[in-house]
Formats: sequence, structure tokens, C-alpha cells
Amino acid sequence: MVKKNACIFISGKGSNLENLIKKSREYSFPVNIKLVISNNKIAQGINFARINSIPFLIVNTKKRGFENLILKIIKKNKISLICLAGYMKIISEKFIREFGKQIINIHPSLLPKYKGLDTYNKILKNKEKKTGCTIHFVNKQLDGGKIINKKFFFLNKNESLETLKIKTQKLERLAYPEAIIKLYRDR
Ligand code: GRF
Repeated sequence: MVKKNACIFISGKGSNLENLIKKSREYSFPVNIKLVISNNKIAQGINFARINSIPFLIVNTKKRGFENLILKIIKKNKISLICLAGYMKIISEKFIREFGKQIINIHPSLLPKYKGLDTYNKILKNKEKKTGCTIHFVNKQLDGGKIINKKFFFLNKNESLETLKIKTQKLERLAYPEAIIKLYRDR
């Protein structure tokens, strides 16, 4: 099986990155993680790239033309899928157009509910009974692209921010690889 090259964009902990690296080692998983990009030089997730010998790039998003630099490296590495995994920077329309291939994102709610930031607090405040995570295509609308995969669970009456986060992220470990498999299966 010829695997496609994927690049993972991170800003923080990188638990999705760690999981995707692990999955990519499986024979039948459709992508290899060829590159990691972080906009945060102290992101913990960079360590997963380091210990797995995956090339990584730290970009300074305050510098003009940083997206052009990313595009250049991405072309050089023949990347055909970008996976955003906790990347806290909005991808410009120009970048989406110029990359011209698939960009996907994981969000810790059942989209279209609770787009944007502070998701867990909003879910608790609204006393939701059901929540989960969503993997979707990235387009110019924030968290608004076509949905690829969703997983849900029911909240407990006394759900705390901490337990909500743990349960959501546990589901993310299943949902993100599943979404990638689905992408290549549905072709
Ligand atoms: C995930 O919960 C994801 O849903 C959100 O950011 C978090 C990133 O976590 N977009 P990690 O860096 O993969 O641990």
C-alpha cells in the first residue's frame, strides 16, 4: 500500500499528534506523518516529533509571509493531507486555496454546536446532555467545513471541566484516525 504524506499542525500538548504517529505505523493506515508544524516554540507536542525522528518546523506567525514559508516546505515534502490538531491559528483563505489539497481539523464538540474557543465551558454552562468531538474539512468558515466523522457520549450530572476534557480527548483518539481512514476509503 502506498501511503500518502501528511503534515500535522500543532500548538500545544500534541496528544492527537502522538496518537496519529502511533496509528501511522500500522500497515493499513493510509498516511505517514512526514512533517510537524508548530506555531509555538515551547509546544510540548514537538517532543513527539523529536522522539519519533519526524522533521518539524516552528513558525513565527508574527513574521510576514509565514504561510508562504509553510507552503514551500509542504510542497517540498509532497504533503497531500494537512491535519490540524490543536493548532491555535486561523488558516487563511489564501493558504487553503494555494495548498489546494485536503485540510482537516478536530474540534472538541459536536459541530455545528460550540464553534470557536472555550468549548468545554460553553457545553457545561448550557447543561448539555450529550457531547463529543468532530473531524471536519477546513474552509473559510471557522469550524464550519463539511463533517467527516463525529463521536459522542452522554455527560454525567456532575461532570466537571476536567472529566469532560478527559472523556472528549479519549474519544478524539478514536475519531481522528477513523476520519483519516474514511477519507481515503471514500475516494
Ligand atoms: C483537542 O482537544 C482538539 O479537539 C482541540 O485542541 C485539542 C488539542 O489537544 N482542537 P492536543 O494538543 O492534541 O493534546
